[in-house]
Amino acid sequence: MKRGQWRLSLAVLLVVTAAGGALWLTRSRTDEVASTDRPVTPHATTADSPVPQKPPPADTGFVGSEKCSQCHQAIAETYRSHPMARSLTPVKDLVAAENELADHLVEPPGSRKYRVRPDGNRLWHHEFLSDPSGQPLYDQQVEVTFALGSGSRGRAYLLERDGRLFASSLNWYARTQQWGLAPGYSPNSHKRFEREVGQGCLICHAGRTNEVSNQPNVYSSPVFLENAIGCERCHGPGQRHLDYHSAQKASRLPGDDADPIVNPAKLDVDRREDVCHQCHLQGESQHLRYGRQMSDFRPGMRLEDVWLIFVSGERRSSERQTQAISQVEQMRSSTCYSKSDGRVGCLSCHDAHSTPAPAERADFYRQRCLSCHAETKAGCRLPETQRLLAPEANSCVACHMPSLGTSDVPHTTQTDHRILRRPEPIRSEPAARPANTDLVIFDRADQRIPQWETNRVRGLMLAGLAEKSRERRIAAEAESLLKATHKIVRDDVEVIEWLGVTRLLLGNTSEARSLWQAGLALEPRRESLLVRLAFFSHDLHDLSAAATYFDRLFEVNPSHAAFHGRQAHILGQIGDFDRAIQAANRAIELDPTLSQAHEWLAQVHQMRRQKDLSKHHQDMSRRLRQAGF
Ligand code: HEC
Ligand code: HEC
Ligand code: HEC
Ligand code: HEC
Ligand code: HEC
Ligand code: HEC
Ligand code: HEC
Repeated sequence: MKRGQWRLSLAVLLVVTAAGGALWLTRSRTDEVASTDRPVTPHATTADSPVPQKPPPADTGFVGSEKCSQCHQAIAETYRSHPMARSLTPVKDLVAAENELADHLVEPPGSRKYRVRPDGNRLWHHEFLSDPSGQPLYDQQVEVTFALGSGSRGRAYLLERDGRLFASSLNWYARTQQWGLAPGYSPNSHKRFEREVGQGCLICHAGRTNEVSNQPNVYSSPVFLENAIGCERCHGPGQRHLDYHSAQKASRLPGDDADPIVNPAKLDVDRREDVCHQCHLQGESQHLRYGRQMSDFRPGMRLEDVWLIFVSGERRSSERQTQAISQVEQMRSSTCYSKSDGRVGCLSCHDAHSTPAPAERADFYRQRCLSCHAETKAGCRLPETQRLLAPEANSCVACHMPSLGTSDVPHTTQTDHRILRRPEPIRSEPAARPANTDLVIFDRADQRIPQWETNRVRGLMLAGLAEKSRERRIAAEAESLLKATHKIVRDDVEVIEWLGVTRLLLGNTSEARSLWQAGLALEPRRESLLVRLAFFSHDLHDLSAAATYFDRLFEVNPSHAAFHGRQAHILGQIGDFDRAIQAANRAIELDPTLSQAHEWLAQVHQMRRQKDLSKHHQDMSRRLRQAGF
């Protein structure tokens, strides 16, 4: 038995650390939101406030777009056809190309096959696998209930499990009008139906989510209070606006004469642009400020009131020639932007409520260009006779903002926002990740926040890089910044967690553990810390601690197969085989490709003289291995 266990241990270890590693490495905003579910105390935001305090909660007087459309019918009608107004749709309400919602067999490279199966107004995605002789090994089906994306470029599909949302392995691709594996999924090794779609996606793609308080990424029913991006994401919560307009003019108190709704057109240029930046700028990494959560941003704020974004710096300006750079960064590298004192913004060219119809596109944007280029007389240098020739026919954007080539991948820029004099080819491959020294804080926001908070986010950013690169030099730099921060704010779990990471990278195991335990005491349901401590305890052969952390983790998030696999292994080592078997079965239920878990079960059942069960799992394990798993 011992040898068998050991074999399993190695196998599961590899699988699990791969999955676990991935979880640690993607420092998505999902991780960060977990850090900020703390009670909020009165606030102080001045740059030199001696004792940092958390800001007050943001205004939550939302009324929903339906309400706005009662009085602003024309705008609501126009906005309805904007892709942003269709950014997320329940599958039952989805109106899509017939092909998208038809019965399909999808056969991407690799051994697993898929089926898209409509059933009335419901939709199922199947993943199935057959062994070389054609005998089915498993057929796992999930019901997808939300479509993410208007379909301009494509759509991801979401399923609900344990109050959370996960992406299906399949995406719809608009250009080819086909189903295929989600971007970044490699055929025989991917996250299947386990890629969580948390706040880190939904903050940009959904109107408003119905998150359970203190449980990041867990939702009550209905999951979305507003499905698609609505009026209040750009105008702020509307309740006070409604109150204002229902009150008689005469009864308004003096000083009450300003309509509390935000009209971005009346904001200063930076705040106006930040309304769009809140979703159109991802950068290399984002970090919430102390005491903030993502959903705290309200139109009228600066981004740095809530989070800071690291982007690649000047030294890499040549690398801006990649599609991976956002429209925001490209535009800000343009001559139009730099020579107009930053007057060029998203709204110089885009209408927030509508997009021009294809036939009006050239005219629409020409008017936008001419609003500056006629008045400054710095018009086009190209002689008019040439400009008017087909196919461009004086479409300013056809020559100066050409398409960067078709791409299926979301979050790559399609239209060249560098606004170049002469079109230049673009690199099709995203550039390599920049080194830490090249990263700067977007829009010099660090100059507008206290120094200690700049150190804090820089420390967090570097700690993330250090974990990826395992470079001691970066870990040491991160650590000194985080240590200084920890002296100032003692209850910042984000800082405590990452200080633990740098301690570990620099070889101090016991301090890493104490820090993580201290963090968990402050935030007992913090998923990332439970994962870290579970794995860490197992690595140190503290089996009962590891098993307890996994139990606590499953109370928070029971949806990851690899973690149940690891727990089965630990419980087996402890000798608690009843629970170990349960855990292994749960792992297989979530991920039927786990041949190691089958093999382990075969051994355990053999030990328990349960011949049929043992044979079944032995069989499954062998056939799965033959199929490449
Ligand atoms: C009870 C009717 C009513 C409802 C409901 C309503 N508004 Fe208004 N809104 C008005 C009136 C009246 C004005 C002022 C006149 C105008 O601009 O049409 C106004 C003005 C505005 C303005 C311009 C303000 C300015 O200072 O320039 C914005 C923006 C706006 N509303 C957005 C919204 C949004 C967003 C909602 C939903 C959250 C909403 N409104 C709901 C009646 C309403
Ligand atoms: C910072 C905001 C932001 C985050 C976070 C974000 N997206 Fe997006 N996403 C956008 C924007 C803006 C677009 C459209 C513009 C573009 O593609 O350049 C987009 C486009 C897409 C599209 C294509 C939609 C269409 O109609 O063609 C898909 C699919 C998508 N995102 C999925 C995701 C998923 C899944 C996540 C989480 C892993 C995610 N996005 C996270 C902002 C975001
Ligand atoms: C993507 C951001 C965004 C969304 C979503 C949005 N707006 Fe606006 N809205 C703006 C901006 C920006 C302006 C200022 C435009 C300008 O004047 O250049 C504006 C202006 C307005 C105005 C005042 C100016 C006018 O044209 O009368 C009203 C009223 C308004 N919006 C209502 C709405 C309503 C109602 C919705 C939802 C159906 C909505 N908006 C959705 C960004 C948005
Ligand atoms: C709440 C997040 C959010 C905000 C705020 C936001 N956007 Fe978007 N925007 C998106 C997402 C997500 C998409 C992709 C929608 C899709 O196709 O599914 C998008 C798409 C777009 C597109 C592409 C439309 C097309 O033809 O495909 C434009 C242009 C755009 N946004 C402009 C703006 C401007 C200008 C502002 C500020 C006034 C703004 N957005 C604010 C999230 C946002
Ligand atoms: C808010 C004002 C503004 C808008 C809108 C604007 N530009 Fe510009 N643009 C400028 C300024 C200012 C310059 C610098 C002119 C100069 O140096 O005299 C410039 C420069 C340029 C240049 C020269 C770039 C170079 O590298 O020398 C081109 C090409 C250009 N713009 C095209 C456009 C096009 C096409 C549009 C519309 C899609 C547009 N611009 C919209 C303000 C604007
Ligand atoms: C000088 C004009 C101009 C400015 C400024 C501008 N855009 Fe665009 N944008 C365009 C044009 C033209 C298109 C292509 C529209 C089409 O194909 O119909 C476009 C397309 C887009 C798209 C669709 C995806 C793509 O890459 O084609 C998004 C998203 C977008 N812009 C976001 C933004 C944001 C965010 C800002 C502000 C940082 C901004 N744009 C500023 C002209 C501009
Ligand atoms: C057929 C392609 C084409 C069209 C259409 C076109 N341009 Fe140009 N534009 C050019 C080229 C090429 C140059 C560079 C000429 C040179 O460097 O001698 C240029 C140069 C410019 C410049 C720089 C002028 C300077 O003084 O250096 C501006 C600004 C500009 N264009 C704006 C526009 C605007 C605005 C429109 C739409 C009304 C437009 N262009 C339409 C091709 C075009």
